[in-house]
Amino acid sequence: MPSELPLFQRFPSLRPHLPCLSLGELPTPVHDLPGVPLAWIKRDDLSHPLYGGNKVRKLAFVAAEMQAKRVRRAYTFGATGTNAGVAAAMVCRDLGIALTVLTFDQPDSPTVEKNQALMRTLGAKLVHCGSLLNTALAFYLHPARLRSDSYFLFAGCSNPVGLFGYVNAALELADQIEAGQLPVPQALVVPVGSNGTAAGLAVGLQLAGLPTRLAAVRVAPSHLGPIPTCTTGEVQKMINQTVLFLRKHVPELAGLQVQAPPLDERWYGAGYGVATAQGHAAIQDFAAMGIALEPTYSAKAAAAFLALRAHAEGPLLFWNTYNSRPTQSILGAA
Ligand SMILES: Cc1ncc(COP(=O)(O)O)c(C=O)c1O
Repeated sequence: MPSELPLFQRFPSLRPHLPCLSLGELPTPVHDLPGVPLAWIKRDDLSHPLYGGNKVRKLAFVAAEMQAKRVRRAYTFGATGTNAGVAAAMVCRDLGIALTVLTFDQPDSPTVEKNQALMRTLGAKLVHCGSLLNTALAFYLHPARLRSDSYFLFAGCSNPVGLFGYVNAALELADQIEAGQLPVPQALVVPVGSNGTAAGLAVGLQLAGLPTRLAAVRVAPSHLGPIPTCTTGEVQKMINQTVLFLRKHVPELAGLQVQAPPLDERWYGAGYGVATAQGHAAIQDFAAMGIALEPTYSAKAAAAFLALRAHAEGPLLFWNTYNSRPTQSILGAA
């Protein structure tokens, strides 16, 4: 990671208000996709030498906040195969923080089994709560909320500080465009689960002054009963929190306003973690280019990307959010 993130280079007044650890390897590479015209890929799958993916950027800010608050136990929740749980377990182990991951049902798959084994090996305690509703209740009503040394981390590591990982990511992209590594993309395609990646990117793209459209592909349930979970409105709420923080701490951003993108609803299929035929085809197409995807998030976004590529005229960017480091590397370090 460079000594100074683009976020702090551009907005130095944020530094004292936003602790951040040096975690992973930034900037992540960007390159064109072999054999696909006008298509580029942002390799957040390589964001960390042991376990990459989109959580590392968020955890750099989350971990710093946990350290500043002298946290000893952290709690998060996710599906049984949560990638965020694996990344959080890796970071908490390094910080000496005991992590509990509350999990909800997801269809079994090799990724689910692998992630369960990784979380356990990394020392996380897994508590299966059944449905998403039960899990959310267990998280929000957890008795440890009364302890000052506990930290409750929203699913996907998408909390107010974590989001800045993706504000910074968009500014990093702008620097790569400026350096001639890729043209200004007409659209940037990313999956949306716990909303933090898309919310952070929306803010960062605007701060960077990039005209790139955020093609945000919904891959998680839109509602939990009557409660919205993965919707444009929920992305907007996260954006608004971030915008308020920026307005408060960066004088030149006092008038900042950022609009959430409409979510692309066409790629979700039969449910969270349920593979789709288009996703399966995208996994094969990307595998032929040497890029590994998984069925829950990146494959559904990649299917949207390939469909967009068939019609759009300008350059497009696929943001790869799934770890591609081999499991052995994280286990070897455990
Ligand atoms: C591989 C992968 N891609 C994308 C996402 C979605 O990102 P976000 O939760 O920030 O919306 C997640 C996690 O939720 C993920 O594990």
